[in-house]
Amino acid sequence: MRVVDIIAKKRDGLELTQAEIDFFVDGFTRGEITDYQAAAWAMTVYLRGMNEAETTALTLAMARSGSVLDLSSVAPRVLDKHSSGGVGDKVTLVVAPLIASLGLPFGKMSGRGLGFSGGTLDKLESIPGFRVTLNTDEFIAQLKHTNIVVSGQTHDLAPADGKLYALRDVTGTVGSLPLIASSIMSKKIAAGAQIILLDVKVGRGAFMKTETDAVALAELMVKIGNGVGRRVGAVISDMNQPLGNAVGNSLEVIEAIETLKGRGPADFVEHCLEACAEILLLAEVTRNHADARAQVESALNDGRALKKFAEWIDAQDGDARVVNDYSILPKASIIQDVRAPRDGYVAGVNAEEIGWTIVDLGGGRAKKADTIDYAVGAVFHRKIGERVARGDALLTLHANSHAKFQDAAKRLLAAYEFSDSKPTPPTLIHKVIR
Ligand code: URA
Repeated sequence: MRVVDIIAKKRDGLELTQAEIDFFVDGFTRGEITDYQAAAWAMTVYLRGMNEAETTALTLAMARSGSVLDLSSVAPRVLDKHSSGGVGDKVTLVVAPLIASLGLPFGKMSGRGLGFSGGTLDKLESIPGFRVTLNTDEFIAQLKHTNIVVSGQTHDLAPADGKLYALRDVTGTVGSLPLIASSIMSKKIAAGAQIILLDVKVGRGAFMKTETDAVALAELMVKIGNGVGRRVGAVISDMNQPLGNAVGNSLEVIEAIETLKGRGPADFVEHCLEACAEILLLAEVTRNHADARAQVESALNDGRALKKFAEWIDAQDGDARVVNDYSILPKASIIQDVRAPRDGYVAGVNAEEIGWTIVDLGGGRAKKADTIDYAVGAVFHRKIGERVARGDALLTLHANSHAKFQDAAKRLLAAYEFSDSKPTPPTLIHKVIR
């Protein structure tokens, strides 16, 4: 078999066989297929798509490119959640310790920033010392010991996804349903959790712009997960504006900790509580939604989740003093408000443009080897439906260069739409697939 023939076959819109997909994933993982061939292949998939059989084959091949963990020695059921990617999406930083603080093991393989969407691993790495590359023994030991672990792809955990993910980030090949489904589900299968909640984002700051596409992605991932014996549910959640107020790695860590201290933005708190409640229902910890909410609200309100967060950061060699001292996080040299140009209501925001602006400020990567500036980002002070007066601080921008500050301020302002009458704010959770 030759990789060039596989690329050409998909370029011509033909279906790849399981043997061809296995050959591609295996060769790419071992470094025999080059980055430029894999990037060309990803672009053909982006343009031509894949059917369900191909997507399932790709998922399983990527999951099996490293170890597939059997966590039955840790617990009868390990819980996990995964987002399809959004702007300001720091949900894992709150949901993971909340679930673990209820005594339920939470084990997750996460990703880095992807296109305009931020990544949990990059956010966690803004905490000094935090280690995201755990091998399988470390992953299992930490899960046993602290009930919570979040790792990235490594040479022995979903390495094929790790490599392809980094290429997709910088080659315009992110927003493809089969590539997203296989990327997410390969990590979920490899990391071994039996109960998985998928948080599929829809809207202007998501890869899926329509509810039809988001539901199709969710249903396909649920089917793939069920096919390998995992219990999988999904929420279709709104991403028409940044989730919470903060976008940018360190800033999102601060917002997540504030949330664990009971001072989070209303939309973000509500989203995290609902996600946790859905996880409890999926795991059959309870069959009653009100009871699920009561359990997670109590772990948030009595400080158990915050305590678990500190334990988790410490277990992965991060500096847990961050819980009480945000000054240990990278901080930008320029922090200034950007003001509203007119009176009115916020009618809409181009959330994708907000994501790209933060990437260009240094908060994401333009090339695979780029390093991230963890300090940069923005804190937004108005959500859709809220009133502003001309001159009010619309957002606070954190930058490390004057030129980048000016460019980002202009772009972020242009991303806002205003109206004279009050628009209806978007619904947070559009749909639940149980
Ligand atoms: N999250 C992933 O892990 N992969 C994607 O492709 C998108 C979101």
